[in-house]
Amino acid sequence: MDTAPTVELKNISKSFGRTQALNQVSLSIHPGEVVALLGDNGAGKSTLVRVIAGAHAPDSGELLIHGEPQRRWSPRIARLAGIETVYQNKALAERQTIATNVFMGREKTNRFGFIHRNAEREAANKVMRDIGFTSRQFDADSSVGALSGGERQGVAIARALYFDADIILLDEPTNALAISEVDEVLEFVQQIRDRGRSAVFITHNITHAHQISNRFVVMDRGEIVAEYDKEHIELQQLLEEMHGLSRAGRMQS
Ligand SMILES: Nc1ncnc2c1ncn2[C@@H]1O[C@H](COP(=O)(O)OP(=O)(O)OP(=O)(O)O)[C@@H](O)[C@H]1O
Ligand SMILES: [Mg+2]
Repeated sequence: MDTAPTVELKNISKSFGRTQALNQVSLSIHPGEVVALLGDNGAGKSTLVRVIAGAHAPDSGELLIHGEPQRRWSPRIARLAGIETVYQNKALAERQTIATNVFMGREKTNRFGFIHRNAEREAANKVMRDIGFTSRQFDADSSVGALSGGERQGVAIARALYFDADIILLDEPTNALAISEVDEVLEFVQQIRDRGRSAVFITHNITHAHQISNRFVVMDRGEIVAEYDKEHIELQQLLEEMHGLSRAGRMQS
């Protein structure tokens, strides 16, 4: 590929006390790629995503964004660089409207510094339509409290798409959702890819991972232990590989 990776990690390590959550992890994510991050509990998946999002500073290693090494990295700088994160329990403000949630922390203001609610409402309606909220009874003025879990994840993803994020990090966004809601979230992720943006998608559900990702990266105790391209692995084979790795891990520990 001739363009620089959207995100590149080189030998990233991170410990919490005596726990080595990441051990010399190297990974590149290119535009248009959805990478599924797989592995057992405690493998280091969330820590990896938090390092990219600026929420954890690595102890060592290098982080490059669009080929540029980053020295000072924080959630704010990450967001300005086009990185958005959707956490499972991402606190949307339930009593607020969809529009307010989409623009929270980045309010549209007029030249007097007042929040431009009409502009926010119009923009929120447009992005909601764009990602397929058309057939529903909701608009930007609906309260988030009235949305299903899947639709809430949709609002978080809409926000990322509105601000035209280059890469969206999703940490188990489908956990604890009903099946129909899971399908909605998977469709949203599909759209990220269709728009040439990239995503890192953490899930324990191998079937979901296989459905929407181009690449599967498997972590075990802080290290990347396997990588597969979707073109080269069928779902059944991926399931077997994952079970095999999981069994091997348990026997060693
Ligand atoms: N803030 C923290 N303080 C101390 N230890 C932490 C912290 N965050 C993660 N850890 C530890 O680092 C290791 C990796 O955790 P991490 O949350 O990255 O795993 P994970 O792969 O996301 O697991 P899960 O699938 O259960 O979410 C674990 O041993 C965990 O206990
Ligand atoms: Mg996790």
